[in-house]
Amino acid sequence: MSPPTAPVLGIESSCDETAAAILAPDGAILAEALLSQLAEHAPHGGVVPEIAARAHLSHLPAMVADVLARAGLRAADLGGVAATTGPGLIGGLIVGSSLGKGIALAARLPFVAVNHLEAHALSARLPGLAETPPDFPYLLLLVSGGHCQCVAVEAVGRYRRLGGTIDDAAGEAFDKVGKLLGLPWPGGPALERLAATGDPARFAFPRPLRGRPGCDFSFSGLKTAVAQRVATFPPGPLPLADAADIAAGFQAAVVDCLTDRLAHAFALMPPATPLVVAGGVAANQAVRAALASLAARHRARLLAPPLRLCTDNAVMVAWAGIERLRLGLSDPLDTPPRPRWPLESLSA
Ligand code: KG4
Ligand code: ZN
Repeated sequence: MSPPTAPVLGIESSCDETAAAILAPDGAILAEALLSQLAEHAPHGGVVPEIAARAHLSHLPAMVADVLARAGLRAADLGGVAATTGPGLIGGLIVGSSLGKGIALAARLPFVAVNHLEAHALSARLPGLAETPPDFPYLLLLVSGGHCQCVAVEAVGRYRRLGGTIDDAAGEAFDKVGKLLGLPWPGGPALERLAATGDPARFAFPRPLRGRPGCDFSFSGLKTAVAQRVATFPPGPLPLADAADIAAGFQAAVVDCLTDRLAHAFALMPPATPLVVAGGVAANQAVRAALASLAARHRARLLAPPLRLCTDNAVMVAWAGIERLRLGLSDPLDTPPRPRWPLESLSA
């Protein structure tokens, strides 16, 4: 198959963001749309899979029609369709990948079954984001509500997992601690704001796995330590100043864990290997600043895509599709959605 010479449609529906985007073959964004389901899930304190699947089903068809119209295209003008096919919540994956396959079938287009983690991994290579996109190999730190892993990105389709969380994801820890502090879900953004007014040194929280070999992460002991500290206060809402000190102490511990584990990852890579960070936790300014100084110590570049491309979106899915189509890779229409789909099992 030849590389795409026409725009590619990307569809994302693996969790609680419904998104569609159309990219020119060179990666220029022609149209994009994104609908967050935050408001629908917030009353439940987390993502409810059935609500997510129904919301994707309600919104995706019109959203795809909308991005096509805004790009001034019909499906037949496209060069391919890329849809997130895993890992993620099965209901949403079925909705998005089936729609993508249907469009590909009707318009006789190549279909790319995109691995959501690969889409995050390749997003930093989107032209125009950095002066020069990172060459392979580079390090990827993926830190979101559902994922927390450190990966050596060696080529499109070639990934070496250096480490991952052995319990909670970093974003999950932010969300659980946010709940302990009485913050609205998802806890990360509110906790960061609260931490800004707190004293990170007042409470000494543990740094699980720090100093241990390897690149694995662990956050559940840290969350438990916070829960125990919260329990020492009288029942009822915590005084704001105490909550702020706990938030600051927790955030400092997370930052220390991330940088300690990543220092080990740098040691496994050639000198000055670039570091790419993606996922919702990459929005955190303390995390970004610590990663920037860690990268500087290794004379490496830190690439943190803008927030809207760090969190779930369809631009990165279309881009992963383009990267694969350029290599002549596409997938059969009977490719099943995969709730579990480790990056390392991919091939190019
Ligand atoms: O990538 P994302 O939007 O969705 C997935 O989890 O796939 O990441 C959401 C996660 C949530 O756990 C949220 O609390 C966390 O990212 N997050 C943050 C911040 N903004 C979002 N964590 C820490 N600080 C933030 N500013
Ligand atoms: Zn994601």
